[in-house]
Amino acid sequence: MCGIVGYVGGNQAAPILLSGLSKLEYRGYDSAGIAVRNPDTEKIEIVKTKGRLLPLIEKTDEGHAVPGTCGIGHTRWATHGEPSELNAHPHCTEDQSVVLVHNGIIENYQELKDKLVKTGYTFYSETDTEVATKLIDYYFKKTGSPLEAISRTMLRVRGSYAFGIMFHDFPGKVFAARKDSPLIIGKNETGSLIASDVPAILDSTRNVFYIGNMEIAELSQNEIHFYNIDREEIEKEMVEIKWDAEAAEKGGYEHFMLKEIHEQPKAVQDTIAAYVKDGAIDFSEVGLTDEVLQSLERIYIVACGSAYHVGMVAKYVLEDLAHIPVEIDLASEFRYRNPYLAKNSLVMVISQSGETADSLAALRLAKDRNVPTLGVVNVVGSSIARESDYVLYTYAGPEISVATTKAYSTQLIATYLIAIQGAKVKGIIDEARYDALLKELNTLPEKIQKALDDKERMQWFASKYANAKDIFFIGRGIDYAISMEGSLKMKEISYVHSEAYAAGELKHGTISLIEDGTLVVGVLTQKELFEKTVSNMVEVRSRGAYLMGLTNYGNYSVEDTADFSVYVPKTEQYFATSLAIIPLQLMGYYVSVAKGLDVDKPRNLAKSVTVE
Ligand code: F6R
Repeated sequence: MCGIVGYVGGNQAAPILLSGLSKLEYRGYDSAGIAVRNPDTEKIEIVKTKGRLLPLIEKTDEGHAVPGTCGIGHTRWATHGEPSELNAHPHCTEDQSVVLVHNGIIENYQELKDKLVKTGYTFYSETDTEVATKLIDYYFKKTGSPLEAISRTMLRVRGSYAFGIMFHDFPGKVFAARKDSPLIIGKNETGSLIASDVPAILDSTRNVFYIGNMEIAELSQNEIHFYNIDREEIEKEMVEIKWDAEAAEKGGYEHFMLKEIHEQPKAVQDTIAAYVKDGAIDFSEVGLTDEVLQSLERIYIVACGSAYHVGMVAKYVLEDLAHIPVEIDLASEFRYRNPYLAKNSLVMVISQSGETADSLAALRLAKDRNVPTLGVVNVVGSSIARESDYVLYTYAGPEISVATTKAYSTQLIATYLIAIQGAKVKGIIDEARYDALLKELNTLPEKIQKALDDKERMQWFASKYANAKDIFFIGRGIDYAISMEGSLKMKEISYVHSEAYAAGELKHGTISLIEDGTLVVGVLTQKELFEKTVSNMVEVRSRGAYLMGLTNYGNYSVEDTADFSVYVPKTEQYFATSLAIIPLQLMGYYVSVAKGLDVDKPRNLAKSVTVE
């Protein structure tokens, strides 16, 4: 996920580009850049900086240092190549014949790069985008036609893209093309614009065109033309945007958290697609070979907060499915407890930000002991990603809301994949079971969507319990791990005291806290444990608790015990967390909204905890 912008018209381009990028920072913020054609020198000036947008604004003196009325810009969320000035966009050819910004992923970039190298092209960055730039240049040099160069490139690349392109020989023009990445084209009295999303252009115009998949746009100050892949001109209707600017930034959602909750089907889909190719798990990008997995005798999972809760789920899944013993530690404990790390083991550090101080220290401890390390990380090029021996990136895209939702969901997928592959290489499951597990894994995005479709029910229930003093979440096995995350979501954004308990453990003390009306949420996704947890629910009900049951469609007998029941689609028992967590995220969210709290920035919390 990255953000692109472009402008050609009668005004200075750079301030418009920077303002647009500032509205797209939610799409990526590890580096940024702009390219503007200088009318005096006729050169396209490219300015790039690492980090958020502010350094770029400073370096360009708010755009004034880069004069010109035609330009493109980019804010990056790294996928190929670490965040750095060199890898930042815009990318260009040596002679500046083509300058390009890109949002998406070119899947066959390596193969295209090899071919371009054979024709004499050299490469300065690690990005797939530079390959696209040079491929367009290759066809442009052959045909002399920007449209032909772009359409031929579109037919050669596999993957997703929204491109903004400038050709040195075509001053006063910006070209755009897209497949499976968002892109809109805007028009006002002064000129024409492109952007990845509506908020980026709302300051300039409300009149937009939606460009379709495999279509190309040619923009100049006064005109916009659209073409299909055969370069035939097509007509587009202008649409007026009616959203207010703030709502637009959140894609029309009231909060980033709700937006990110709804992005989970896609985040999960993208993470599966990154590692499941042609019906098999492919960790070649991670470097985690079958031999490494086969040799593993123990895994130590180390993480903080929600990432630790992913580790809890992973322990159940890895031990049961792949027969790999797993120890799980809070990073802040692990780093100071002088852990004994066995031979043939792996330390797996799970972290969205890749910068959490305790997790990073735990990773360094493992490295000091010469134990191989695997980082499961969302932010490309972050410290944990850089320092781990193996990195398994999750593809959640940038997460803005402090409370994690979509990153947590993608971390789960990463651990399922390791367990499935581990089970296969250790000969614990046969081909048929492997195929069945992958098939079921692929249904998760759709099933998560189904769980999301029931959100009104959670909204209604949350409004009833907004004033609860205490909430308990109980479950056994994986359901206990789900309870821990559900409970954290509740307390961190809703400020309601809540606890997660292993259902069988309640009566060893904590049950004395149950009073008349105390809400207890029983999580019951695991078939073997259903009756056991129901018994524990009955125990608290007889002490006055009000019971919510969270289970799979079909387990309707829960209604004999629970006062309120919530159902999620059935799935393989190992993947249950991915579905059961959805209503619990929604519940935390809606309680917070009902209390009028600052959902995206809860008190006392920071998105990335870089102090111990
Ligand atoms: C809770 C939450 C935190 C993080 C924790 C670790 O919603 O977001 O508990 O999971 O601070 O952060 P990362 O994953 O960045 O290491």
